[in-house]
Amino acid sequence: MNNSFQKNKEYKKFVVDSRLQYFKPHATKIEKTFSEEISSSLGTGSKSIHPKFFYDKKGSDLFEKICAVPEYYPTRTEISILKRLQSELDSFLDVDFRLVELGSGSSTKTRLILDFLTSSQKTTEYFPIDISEILTESSEELLNDYKNLSITGIIDTYEGGLEFLKTYDDKNNLIIFLGSSFGNFSPIDGYKFLEKIYATMKPGDLFLIGLDLVKDKVILESAYDDSEGVTAKFNLNVLSRINDELDADFNLNNFSHHSIYNEKDQRIEMYLKSLVDQSIIISKSDLELKLQKDELIHTEYSHKYRLSQIHDLLDDVGFELKHTWFDEKKYFSLTLVSKN
Ligand code: TRP
Repeated sequence: MNNSFQKNKEYKKFVVDSRLQYFKPHATKIEKTFSEEISSSLGTGSKSIHPKFFYDKKGSDLFEKICAVPEYYPTRTEISILKRLQSELDSFLDVDFRLVELGSGSSTKTRLILDFLTSSQKTTEYFPIDISEILTESSEELLNDYKNLSITGIIDTYEGGLEFLKTYDDKNNLIIFLGSSFGNFSPIDGYKFLEKIYATMKPGDLFLIGLDLVKDKVILESAYDDSEGVTAKFNLNVLSRINDELDADFNLNNFSHHSIYNEKDQRIEMYLKSLVDQSIIISKSDLELKLQKDELIHTEYSHKYRLSQIHDLLDDVGFELKHTWFDEKKYFSLTLVSKN
């Protein structure tokens, strides 16, 4: 094993037992990034908050709730496709694979892949990469349920996790990126991110990506503005996090969740809308934020794709297409590609 990462000063290694370890960046690195990024993204003309900041403990729990609301079809649909794919994976995996997951969250969907890998391989390694510590809870449960599994968790951004993987060893990786999280990138950043994944992969490695498909506007808009208001709570929670961690004085009652489908750009756009003229102090970012009534803070895009666009995109990056799976209604897709 290449130990360069264990020696990397930016990460702390936590060994829980022989089957479980974590790598986590030092707290100072994370906090600094948060205050600096907020200061630059809210201190400009077009105001935004990077969606990775949604996922503190509370945000990750709320996101799990979004996945269960009736209007949010992506999770249910992707699970139904994964159940079918499970039995077909065999023909694509000729050697043992380590499972690497970008944005693993509670690892619920991961179980469908682990069911297959742990039953067909003597031992299986799982590398969840997640920005939230939710990963530590889910890992313990997985180890109880799968006896021949070992876990190396990386609590960091996707980019940090991929860097980690790149220098790790020469075992084959099956990298999975589910939940249409890729759609949360802008097209340019998304393309660069795919290139990063491609560069991380070794010949023979596989990459499975779950992407949401273009569909009726009403279905899309209600998936991102559910009637119970869970999505609204999730969006607003990022302001509480800024209050707590960056010493700010956002009054959540002065904001509302605002989401629309932009047909031309094929994406749901999410914002926090200021309900009044107001001024907010974000102490640790050294910022006084002035907002007018109806002004929007952009928080998230969720791009939707046509099948041909998915294939062109993956092809352009250099991947070789193996297979695409759908549900019956063609709401969602899972595509497997390789690097040759
Ligand atoms: N990857 C998810 C998606 O695009 C993220 C998501 C779902 C989300 N609902 C949200 C992000 C609400 C912000 C707000 O579907």
